[in-house]
Amino acid sequence: MSVDESKRIIAEKGVKHLAFIMDGNGRWAKKRGLSRSLGHKAGVEAMRRILDYMFELGVEHVTVYAFSTENWKRSKDEVEALMKLFSLQMRSAKKDLDEHRSRLVFLGDKSAFSPSMRKRMIELEEYSKDNPRTVNIAMNYGARAEILRAVNALIEKGEGNVTEEKFSSMLYTSLSPDPDMIIRTAGEKRLSNYLLWQAAYSELYFTDTLWPDMQNSDVDAALEEFARRVRRFGAVV
Ligand code: IPE
Ligand code: IPE
Ligand code: MG
Repeated sequence: MSVDESKRIIAEKGVKHLAFIMDGNGRWAKKRGLSRSLGHKAGVEAMRRILDYMFELGVEHVTVYAFSTENWKRSKDEVEALMKLFSLQMRSAKKDLDEHRSRLVFLGDKSAFSPSMRKRMIELEEYSKDNPRTVNIAMNYGARAEILRAVNALIEKGEGNVTEEKFSSMLYTSLSPDPDMIIRTAGEKRLSNYLLWQAAYSELYFTDTLWPDMQNSDVDAALEEFARRVRRFGAVV
């Protein structure tokens, strides 16, 4: 499999949106006798590498799961290390957004983050809002919280008859179509509260590769598998 082959699959199969569950940073570090925070640092590098490849391939919408609503249950040290990494990444983000011509959207409740981080997140969203591609970063994201937020907003508005389209438009992902494929690394076969509404007809792909080891060739393998799947959407084909 090559870049060209992956590009061909994306064009022929109409792949618009790929979503990743970036899992296995902790195990990657443990295997090397390193701290979990060094695993997360390597995870950020892998994320940059994979995002670069997504743009090379011409995928229009990419979503990555960076921090879940449940990840606050981790030790204070680990949460702090993650927050530090996020804020460091955000400092250099404008350059990347310009280069990739992408619009950054944070999925999740920003109010849990420090005021300075929140300000930076809003600023980056605003700065990049006219770019043609979309990068969604799920941070303090949980699909159940996302769904309840939409429900409560609808109740508040006194909306009567809610369609699927209307409901989708109330979710954090309103700017992106549903993911064509969700790719989870590190061998776990579950969604862990990720994109539960949006995943209704997503193809699911699991690899044992730990996220920091993720390479372009792993994405190629996922796309090759995607090309072999028959998507019926409930119909007979
Ligand atoms: C994913 O890696 C990163 C986050 C959830 C923030 P993990 O930290 O979950 O790695 P494992 O699952 O412990 O190996
Ligand atoms: C899911 O991974 C969340 C992210 C990748 C950010 P977890 O490592 O938190 O998921 P579980 O706990 O194994 O289900
Ligand atoms: Mg994990």
